[in-house]
Amino acid sequence: MQAAITFLGENAMFGRVGEMAKRRLNRLRRNWKSEFYSEVKDIAEHPVVLRMKLYPHHGSTNCYQHCMNVAYYNYQWCRFLHLDARSAARAGMIHDLFLYDWHMHAKKTGDCFHGLTHPKKSYQNARKFFDLNHIEKDIILNHMWPVTFFKIPRTKEGWITTLTDKYCGACETSRRK
Ligand SMILES: [Fe+2]
Ligand SMILES: [Fe+2]
Repeated sequence: MQAAITFLGENAMFGRVGEMAKRRLNRLRRNWKSEFYSEVKDIAEHPVVLRMKLYPHHGSTNCYQHCMNVAYYNYQWCRFLHLDARSAARAGMIHDLFLYDWHMHAKKTGDCFHGLTHPKKSYQNARKFFDLNHIEKDIILNHMWPVTFFKIPRTKEGWITTLTDKYCGACETSRRK
């Protein structure tokens, strides 16, 4: 992952802060971008996680790219706010590890509630391959709040993920060709 890569919606998300803060933020973003990838590398290059590239997600974005986007914003915001950026990035990378095409899921399985059920499926898959701490577990299981009304995040990193996930989803959907 090169520092020159621009993530989808990145400029829009960071474009509204004051000029001084913006300059400082840009400097931090450059430094943190390469550090971000070293924190998620083992997950991002795991064969099971790479399988997410097979499944379309929002618009023309596949599940892997969506998770990479969420992981990246989780890392940036959590570092900025002095939270656990590593856990936020790593859980972001696997928060949608459900491993099917959700567009076809209801037709194939009869499960019409993908939006409600996929966090648990993703958690079950993720825990098979990775050791998850309580922040990572919270992020994966509760990222769909408020859709999953009673599954409320219990960590600050979990709350940030509810925002980054929706922000990335909206950006990805709006890029639909
Ligand atoms: Fe999700
Ligand atoms: Fe997501």
